[in-house]
Amino acid sequence: MSLKVTRNLQVIAVASGKGGVGKTNVIANLTAALSKIKQRTLLLDCDLGMADAGIVLGMNSDRTIEDILTGRRQYEDVVQQGVFGLNLVPGVNGAGRIMEMDAVAKRRLVDSLRPWTKSFDYILLDNPSGASSSSLSLMASADQVILVLSSEPTSFMDGYALIKLLALEYKVKEILVVTNMVEDETEGRDLFRRFSDVSARFLGIKLHHLGSVPRDSHIREAVLRKRCCLDLFPRSRASEAFERLAHRLNDYSLLKKTKRSNFFSSLEMVSAS
Ligand SMILES: Nc1ncnc2c1ncn2[C@@H]1O[C@H](COP(=O)(O)OP(=O)(O)OP(=O)(O)O)[C@@H](O)[C@H]1O
Ligand SMILES: [Mg+2]
Repeated sequence: MSLKVTRNLQVIAVASGKGGVGKTNVIANLTAALSKIKQRTLLLDCDLGMADAGIVLGMNSDRTIEDILTGRRQYEDVVQQGVFGLNLVPGVNGAGRIMEMDAVAKRRLVDSLRPWTKSFDYILLDNPSGASSSSLSLMASADQVILVLSSEPTSFMDGYALIKLLALEYKVKEILVVTNMVEDETEGRDLFRRFSDVSARFLGIKLHHLGSVPRDSHIREAVLRKRCCLDLFPRSRASEAFERLAHRLNDYSLLKKTKRSNFFSSLEMVSAS
């Protein structure tokens, strides 16, 4: 007997305090891994300075999220299909020009996506590093935030500064953490424990460890070969880790299946304010 579980859409934002900790590689491969287990996924590259998600997935296009944010095109004219059936709205090839996602732009994005909400189990948002108010409000409007931490001390401190803002100013109550570029599971668990001890003590925010991704040269090699790591090197340590993360995220989201996604209503509130 099979049990049919119906679930609402989950909107998941990836964040980091510091740049270069692996956000884009984690979110792109996680999107691919969710698709591989038959989840219907859409990755929105909201890093409006660099079109990195498309690069990591080996997909490029002249049509980008900027077309939606400026009202030139609708979602369906921009979206691209990729490995395992994932969908991508590519980011902006900014060449140093960084577009701001202001309230009007966000409203256009939400309005363009609204007819498609039933087409997805997950919408994942890649974000620029750091704590601009437009990316903080986008993160806070997601149903889940995944913070990517690496073992560098600056990643720890900047990650703490970011979740402090999310907790105190945007009232985010819980965050999922991925520890990236660690040597092994033990190092990842230790890093998470230290981070969550400090965060729970001073911010009262609940953190859950989604898991670790090891330092693995296959990630860089896949980018050089313009392919998604999970697709090109499915047996690599990193790809196995991405698959574990996808299963855990899916299990975690099932626990929350009764909750309807806040993304579309809360962004409207942000837009209206
Ligand atoms: N687990 C890993 N093992 C080895 N290298 C990794 C790993 N994760 C990421 N990298 C490498 O780290 C670099 C930064 O990765 P990525 O672009 O995903 O980071 P980011 O946090 O999105 O950066 P930005 O702040 O610029 O958006 C890349 O060169 C990538 O190949
Ligand atoms: Mg990035």
